[in-house]
Amino acid sequence: MSKKLNLELSDKMYANALNIIPGAVAGIRRPYNFVPGEYPIYFEHAKGGRVTDVDGNEYIDFLCVYGAIIIGYREEEIDNAVIEQMRNKGFCFSLTQPVQNRLAEKLIEIIPSAEMAVFVKTGSDATTTAIRVARGATEKTKIVRCGYHGWHDWCVEVKGGVPPKLYEDVYETHYNDLDGLEEIMKQHGDDMAAIIITPVGHPLAEKVQEPKPGYLEGVRAIADKYGAALIFDEIRSGFRVDIGGAQKRYGVTPDISTFGKAMANGYPIGAVVGKREFMKVLADKVFLSSTFFPNSMEQIAALKTIEILERDNILAAVRKKGEFFGNLVEEVVKNCGYDVEFSGAPLMPFITFNKDKDGLYKKLRPAFYTELIRRKVFLQPFHHGYVCYRHTEEDLRYSANMIAEAFGELKNYI
Ligand SMILES: Cc1ncc(COP(=O)(O)O)c(C=O)c1O
Repeated sequence: MSKKLNLELSDKMYANALNIIPGAVAGIRRPYNFVPGEYPIYFEHAKGGRVTDVDGNEYIDFLCVYGAIIIGYREEEIDNAVIEQMRNKGFCFSLTQPVQNRLAEKLIEIIPSAEMAVFVKTGSDATTTAIRVARGATEKTKIVRCGYHGWHDWCVEVKGGVPPKLYEDVYETHYNDLDGLEEIMKQHGDDMAAIIITPVGHPLAEKVQEPKPGYLEGVRAIADKYGAALIFDEIRSGFRVDIGGAQKRYGVTPDISTFGKAMANGYPIGAVVGKREFMKVLADKVFLSSTFFPNSMEQIAALKTIEILERDNILAAVRKKGEFFGNLVEEVVKNCGYDVEFSGAPLMPFITFNKDKDGLYKKLRPAFYTELIRRKVFLQPFHHGYVCYRHTEEDLRYSANMIAEAFGELKNYI
């Protein structure tokens, strides 16, 4: 077993925060989502593909803010564009600044389903807006969903504080399961406003899945058959799988889609785009407004991010890096001697431990991730990782070697 990291300051700050902030840190960033006592809780700064915690430990970061970082941390070109806007013009106004139109035009140019666009702040804002648009346009009520769509009442997985009537019209289907979806539609299709799915499957703590041949086309056909809007939740896949989203890569066009995360390389923006016949309800029938939605800082960041993604062919480079890493890790996993799966390569790598009847995986998983974080490789036990443009070949090779070492240590935990 390797030596535990010095996390003294992180632990101290966490203990202090427990008294003043419920749970100390928000939701998915809490220690139980990692390995309690082994992972840092506070980061101090980051650059490129690396983050440094408050105790001075530097990690190769494969979580990339749950996908918000596509190029790297502190990208000067993006930050400078934002700083220029703040200094020379300002970003928070009672009316809208012109950059909004430019960003909408850009999304309409690159995303197949986009004929119109609106901007919000978070992924949850975007998915909730998409649902409201679908309900407004179809004048139906029910929703069938597949995957994580955020923290709002209609879809949050933890039901505390949410009256059942706020989600009782929402049904759940599983990724790549067309029969299950058809079954739900047979029963409720007449009143189904929307089918919302993530075009890439990434159920929590389970392996990442690509669409089986015909799956996305099948979902499209079912939506059409029952007159429901098809929504692709591209919050994770957008600006990562392809500049036009997973819809572009897989050639299936939804009616409405949601984007966020990587769209502005870490600046807080979400977008809902879609076909005119759906989106037009936002003009007069369906309400969407918030004090900060039109702020231009993140619109500038999004435009600059997209400009760089296109100009430097970043997504192809990220895919190539991911393939390089994926091939190395694939080999390590094949030879590790444990019942482990590696999925999500090239873009969303994830090492999962298959369940065994004795529950050994419950010991192996935290042990493996403990050994990994001690070697300064930041991956999450219950969530796939991400590759970003600033990960170097050396970072990727080192990390694959550390994954091999971490497997090698597991015998000491059994
Ligand atoms: C597919 C998907 N949809 C929606 C969301 C919600 O986005 P946000 O956390 O920005 O509200 C997430 C966040 O992880 C997501 O992965």
